[in-house]
Amino acid sequence: MTFNSQYRPILDLLVCPECKVGLRAQEDKLICSNCNSEFTGSNGIYNMIGGQLNEHDLEQQRVADETCAGYHKFLTTRPLYGLIRDKYVFPYWLKDSFDGKSILDIGSGTGWSTCVIAARASMLVNLDISLERLRFAKARLEAQNVIYVQGDMKKTPFPDKKFDIILSYGSLHHLDNPETAIAEIGRVMNKNGVFLAIEPNIKFTWVEFWNEILHLPKPLEKRITNLYKVMQKYTKKQLEKEQPYLKNIKSKEKLHEGIRDIDWYKNMFAKFSFKLEYQPVGLEMVPPRLLMSKNIILVESLLKCSQWCINRFKKGKNAYFNIMRATRDADGATTK
Ligand SMILES: C[S@@+](CC[C@H](N)C(=O)[O-])C[C@H]1O[C@@H](n2cnc3c(N)ncnc32)[C@H](O)[C@@H]1O
Ligand SMILES: [Zn+2]
Repeated sequence: MTFNSQYRPILDLLVCPECKVGLRAQEDKLICSNCNSEFTGSNGIYNMIGGQLNEHDLEQQRVADETCAGYHKFLTTRPLYGLIRDKYVFPYWLKDSFDGKSILDIGSGTGWSTCVIAARASMLVNLDISLERLRFAKARLEAQNVIYVQGDMKKTPFPDKKFDIILSYGSLHHLDNPETAIAEIGRVMNKNGVFLAIEPNIKFTWVEFWNEILHLPKPLEKRITNLYKVMQKYTKKQLEKEQPYLKNIKSKEKLHEGIRDIDWYKNMFAKFSFKLEYQPVGLEMVPPRLLMSKNIILVESLLKCSQWCINRFKKGKNAYFNIMRATRDADGATTK
């Protein structure tokens, strides 16, 4: 990739991820005007990682690279994920118009979730740590206003206040330290900007769900818990059959160590002077195998049922996911 004058828009967009100062173009390199770090790119994907990734992030990167196609196929063949995206997440997010906005998708992966909004945006920047996932996304969507950047969302290569909308579709919980990414979001989001996210909630099982409603006698609860454990093993085996790459990921729990409940997010956003609204979505009321069914009518009914329970029994804390929307406090306070 040669960075000549036609790359002016890129020079306005990218900064050194360490020093946050501008870059100068020199043939096939971008060079930090402060620390002289060099950045390159290939096939239209800018490599802006800079410095050495820590062990956690290297493992995220390895797994994301290796699971790219399998993960995308899984998302597209299970109606659960498409239904949550199309019936719950985007309708909630679209309270904010995307038209003509500059949008940053952090942890954009294969672009499964947010490439659908590219046509509305004036600019959509996809940031991911995995080159394979960016390549995959780029092969699916190539457009003048869509930019692909390899980078770390805890240390982004963008100037202050650059974006109107920042999105995270299930990415923050992949970090060892989500708090650092929230600080970065505050830095690169403009004053009237908005941060939209969906993140998984702390796990609650269908046994816990029914026990809380029916107050099962202890011996029965124990039996059902045992049944749950047997079914879990069976589900795990079935899923591994469909996605053989899962077997090679020994560090699955570690990769998701950033999962937090909504109270954590409330406190964290308050700390960075953001106001947070949220909507819990999805409940594990039945064994997950049923939610993973390919029968769209069954899954849609289960989801409707779970939203009813969330409202009727105030079961938001048991939800699968929280859809979030964060804006700056009314006084326009900035992050520290
Ligand atoms: C669950 S996937 C979500 C992908 C995408 N948002 C979607 O909806 O399909 C999480 C993504 O976060 C990326 N990721 C993990 N750690 C990251 C980091 N430190 N910086 C940037 N991306 C990261 C992974 O490579 C992966 O693509
Ligand atoms: Zn620098």
